[in-house]
This record gives sequence, C-alpha cells and structure tokens, in this order.
Amino acid sequence: MKLFTDTDLQQQPEEIKKKIEKLKTKILYYQKEYYENNTSKISDTEFDALFHELKHLELQYPKFITPDSPTQKIYNTTQTKLTKTKHLVPMISLENAFHEKDLSDWEERFIKILEKSHINFYKDPQEIKYIVEPKFDGLGISCVYKNGKFIRAVTRGNGEEGENVSLNMQTLEDHKNTIPSITPHTNSLFEIRGEIVMKKSIFKELNTKLSAENKKQFSTPRNAASGSLRQLDATITKQRKLSVFFYETPLKETQNYFTTYDKTLSFFEKHHIPYCKHYYTCQTLSEVLRAIKKIEKLRENFDFDIDGAVIKINNYHLREIIGSTGHHPRWAIAWKFPAIQVQTQLQHIEWQVGRTGVLTPVAHLQEVVIDGVKVNRATLHNMDYIKEKKLNIHDTVLLERSGDVIPKIIKSITAEQKEQYQSPHTVFSHIPLPTTCPICNAPTYKKQDEVALRCSNTNCPQILKGKLEHFVSKKCLNIKGFGTEICDDIIEKKLITQFSDFSHIYTFSSTDWAKIKNFKQKSIENIQSALKNSTTQPFWRIIHALGITGVGEKTSKILAQHYPHFRAFTHISQTSLETLQNIHDIGEKTAQEIITFIQNTEHQKLFEQLEIIFQTNTRTNTALSSSSKKTPFLHKKFVITGSFPHHSRDDLKTIIEEHGGTCVGSVSKKTDYVVVGDKAGQKKTHAESIGIPLLTLSEFFTLLNHTNT
Ligand code: IVH
Repeated sequence: MKLFTDTDLQQQPEEIKKKIEKLKTKILYYQKEYYENNTSKISDTEFDALFHELKHLELQYPKFITPDSPTQKIYNTTQTKLTKTKHLVPMISLENAFHEKDLSDWEERFIKILEKSHINFYKDPQEIKYIVEPKFDGLGISCVYKNGKFIRAVTRGNGEEGENVSLNMQTLEDHKNTIPSITPHTNSLFEIRGEIVMKKSIFKELNTKLSAENKKQFSTPRNAASGSLRQLDATITKQRKLSVFFYETPLKETQNYFTTYDKTLSFFEKHHIPYCKHYYTCQTLSEVLRAIKKIEKLRENFDFDIDGAVIKINNYHLREIIGSTGHHPRWAIAWKFPAIQVQTQLQHIEWQVGRTGVLTPVAHLQEVVIDGVKVNRATLHNMDYIKEKKLNIHDTVLLERSGDVIPKIIKSITAEQKEQYQSPHTVFSHIPLPTTCPICNAPTYKKQDEVALRCSNTNCPQILKGKLEHFVSKKCLNIKGFGTEICDDIIEKKLITQFSDFSHIYTFSSTDWAKIKNFKQKSIENIQSALKNSTTQPFWRIIHALGITGVGEKTSKILAQHYPHFRAFTHISQTSLETLQNIHDIGEKTAQEIITFIQNTEHQKLFEQLEIIFQTNTRTNTALSSSSKKTPFLHKKFVITGSFPHHSRDDLKTIIEEHGGTCVGSVSKKTDYVVVGDKAGQKKTHAESIGIPLLTLSEFFTLLNHTNT
C-alpha cells in the first residue's frame, strides 16, 4: 500500500483534490463491502493506512473536506437494504413456565437426562445450580467478534438468519467495538447474544416528539426498539438511544473456556460488556421462586420492559448434556409474568381448517387495544375449550395478550355473572359443533381419544392448500417463489385435486402454469427453474415435505440418516415398528404414524413419482443431507464387523457412503473406525492391537448426529 508522503503536498491543489476524491471512493467502497456484505477486501492495516492518508491530506487542505468524507462521520449513511446473514448457531427461543409445577416438571425432565449420563445435578452443594435474571421484552441480537474486533450484528430474524444491522449496532452508546480476545480458546470467534431495548423514558420522549411532528407513534418500547434498530439510515438509530443487555455466549469453544454462566457474567462485568446486574444465583427451585418474586418486584422500577424471568442452568457442560429441542433449550426456561387483561365482546366464531384437517374455532372480537396492539381475533383451540369457558355469541369476555403470544380468551364475564344468580349447571355454551366442514361440506369426525374435530375429506381443498404450502415451503422442498397464493390458486383451479398428485407440480406444462394468476412467460420460466433446482434437495427435506404427523424437521433428518433413500424409506413396514421406536427421538405414536403413512397405497403412488423426479439426484441428495462438508465420515475408512439387531451391514454401509465415507473389508493402519456389533471376532481384536478406534452402533450414530442435526 502506497503511503502518503510529504512530496504529495507539493503537488498542485487540483491533483490533491483528485487524490482525495479517489481515496474517499476507495474507503467508502471498502466500508460498504465490510459493513453491508461482510467481506474484508483489504486488511485492517491497509484500510487504516488509506484512512490515515486521507485524513492527513484533508488536514493540509481543509477546503477539500466534504461532509460525505469518511473522515467526517462513521460509516452510517443510508444503506440500500439490510442484508440477510446466517447465524453461526441458530437463535432458538425459550419454553414458557407459568406455574410452580411447570418449573418442577422442567427440572424433573432435565434431571432424568442427566441421570442417563450418571450425573447427579444436586451432588456438589458448592456449585451454583441456577441463574435467574430478567426476561427483557426487546429484540434479540447477535454480535460477533473476530480476534477481539467487532465484525457484525445480526437480528434474530427467523432464528436461522437475521438482518445485518452492524452499522446500526455501532451507533449504540453501550456498543463495544473491541472485546479482549480470549483466543486461542475461542477459535478466534466470539459471539455474544442479548436483547436490544428502548428505555421507557426514551420511549415516552420519542413518542412525544413523533406526535409533535404529526408522525405515527410506536405502540410499545419493544416495537420502537425494533423499528429503531432496523433503520436503513443508522443515524436515526443513533438518535433513538437504544440499550442492550447481553446474556449468552452460544459458541461451544467460548463456553468451554468460561465453564459457567456466572463466570461469563463476571467477564462481561470486567470488560464493560452491557448485561443486567440484577441476576440471582440459586441452589434450589425454592430459591429460584424467591428470585423470580424479587425480579417481579423490581419490574416497576426498571426503566425498561421485562415480561418475565429466565431461569438458566449455570454449568455449560451440563447444558450441553441436557441439550435442546429444535425450538428451545432444555437447560433454560422462561417464567412469564401475568399478562395484561382487557374486556371485549365475542362477535362470532369462525371454524378454520388446517393442513392436518383439524377444525379450529377462531373468535372474532370487537377490536380492542392491549398494550398498544390492536386485537380482534383469538384462537379458541377446540370445542372443549368453548364448552369449558361457557362461551356464547355476544358475551363479554376477558382477553389477555402477553408479548408475541396469540391473544387468549380467559373467561366469559357474562357466563360468570349469570352463574351468580343461576345455578352453574344451567349456564352453558350454545355454540353448535359443526357437523360438516365449512370448506367442502364433508362430514366432520373425531379420532379416538382426541378432542379435535376433523374434516373427513382428505382431499378437502383447504387441507390440500395447507399441505401444498408445507410441501414447497422453505423448510421442505424449498421451491423459490412458490408462495401461498400460487398454492391456493393451484388447488382452486383444480390443477391438483389430491395429495398423491403433488408430484404433478414437477410435470405441469407451461399451459398449466399459465392458468395461475399473474403468471406470464417470465414467471413460468422462473418457477420451472426453481422446481428443477429443488430436485437436488437432501432426502430429509422430502420426508419433511410429506407432512407425516409428528415428523418435523429434526425427526426427518434423523429418519433420513437411517433410511437415506426412497428404496429404504418406502420399505418401512409394520415389522419396522420396533426399529423405528429404537431410533432416538421417535416415540411409539410417531413410529406408527410413519408406518401407516408409508403403507397407504395412494402415498405409495406419490413415492414412485417422487422417486423418478429425484432419482438422478438421490446419491448426491443424501450425501448433501448430511452436510457433507461437515460430516465426520467424509473420506473416512470404516470396517464393519459383527452383527446388529436392527441393521444389516449393508444398511450401515449405505449410511457411511451417503455421508462421504468408504467401507473396506479388512482392518489396516489406514482404517479410521471399526464399527463393532455382536459376536465381533478377529477384526475387532486386530483393530484393538493396532490402536484403531472401535465404535459401538450407538457411538457410530452419536458421531453422525453430532454434526448433522
Ligand atoms: S436466553 C436459547 N435470556 O426471549 C435461547 N433470552 O422467548 C436462550 N430473552 O429468544 C435465550 N431476555 O430473545 C435469554 N435473559 C434472557 C432473555 C432472553 C429476553 C429473549 C430472547 C429469546 C426470547 C425467548
């Protein structure tokens, strides 16, 4: 990099001006790449040198300083859009607890998991068991540092990816651009997660200002925080004076380094990383409850909104053993404070049909504002709920809403009043149970042991719409541009009339596509190319797309590991019940659902069609399904010896190959792992003698699942 020299100053002013312009353009380009596209095109030293050169020239020739010069402001000019960025680790949410029993059930659940690993949670009385802290009602944020330097801030978004708000984040007074690096322990990356909030005092000030300017006010501090952070112009974010509280370091290496959450908080304290000092360390659930009460008392005094308390296990190693579901960690739980309640009138009930065929009653209410949010609908769950609440049309009902939770009808005030001067047995709901589906008029029915009412027509247009939407969705076949409206139109125009014809979307002609609303040549080409691209999907996505009851994303991935292609999957039969149940995470009910689904002759037809569509890609498919880049099996040589109760050696060989490994017949120094089953003989002894690692079947799957789920 050419550095500024004094000879430059002897140049003509016009040349200096040109040089300044060039430097400004260069610096702005690198800033844009860095902040908006997350790429460092030059090293920090090179960037600093450019900046220094510009500053020095401007100092000598102040008349050439322009307001848009990078030396005059931090890089916070208007961005064209907030770019999407994938999180290093998904940002999942928290399970809620409302009663003491929820907490004791939670504890019982994780204690059981620990016991399986022979760990007694209460063994060491000295060790801090729980940390209880406020649950901030704000906007989740992830900040990543590399070698101690801030590199990006990303909102929670959908949990997998969020919006890059690095520029905005840097305008916060509490923001830290550098954090002492704890490498080599942390693999150079350090991530802190927390919550962006707007203080209540700032919120009031802002709304007064907005109202004076005749502008729309924010309904809650949380909405204001979200709106202020996600600004294209970061200077607006700066004016909004947001605050942040950090509470999590999700990277495993960091957690291994800190070992416990209280030590992480001490690190935050030492290095002035903003966090909430009102946290409590607890040894038992009774202490946890006392801490929750203390936080609830403090609630009014806080200058920021909290909607509960979060109870977390302190020890990171235990957290890792306890693990997470796809949606929330099992090592933490949110205690929600009572929600705000208001009265309104129940106007009528609409029965909505979901993709599983279940009819859900939805209450239409007279619109009310709760905590700044307009509410005119509430779910009533099912008929039992309506009966239990003794609801009738035109009743005055008590409604509550807390945070993002869908509004809930707590009780009927009218029914309660009637009961005061009538016998409780004479007050009941007159709302009739629909005998036919509101969409297709087919009779409704209930499954044994279920409260839910269902439409009996598996090809009910509303069910098909929901199923098709799921089939093509981002988490399933991920067909770009295939949204709800297209799904609805396909069903309404009867281009598809039954589930087993879903594969037809891959064979629709251009004339078929032209029937879809607003579809012209370009959109037809786009959808056809999106469909073509989707045929390289990993096999688990096809399983997920089928929408089998109880088989979500996580279970689909697990199933694909055991049944990595159509041939294996469609051969699951009643005799596979035990094998399925032995797979971690699959219960008896789900196992039976899978079998029934696969054995349905209509579904078999669909599988045949899908197999043809996805056939050419099945190999790469399944290899991709295990994220081959990360798989610990990639390029590894395995030897399988002995027998296995539920798997043939060929099954295991397929799994290994699908995950990028190879299977060889005899053990040598080049072998990476030997998978040992029952009655393993010579190969096992030989492997032991030359120090090749042995894997039991469960270790084999643990290794595989470790990086794949
Ligand atoms: S810990 C794996 N601690 O609440 C999730 N979250 O309802 C661990 N939240 O997504 C999160 N205060 O955005 C944690 N003290 C706190 C929190 C907190 C607010 C948010 C967070 C999370 C949401 C779940």
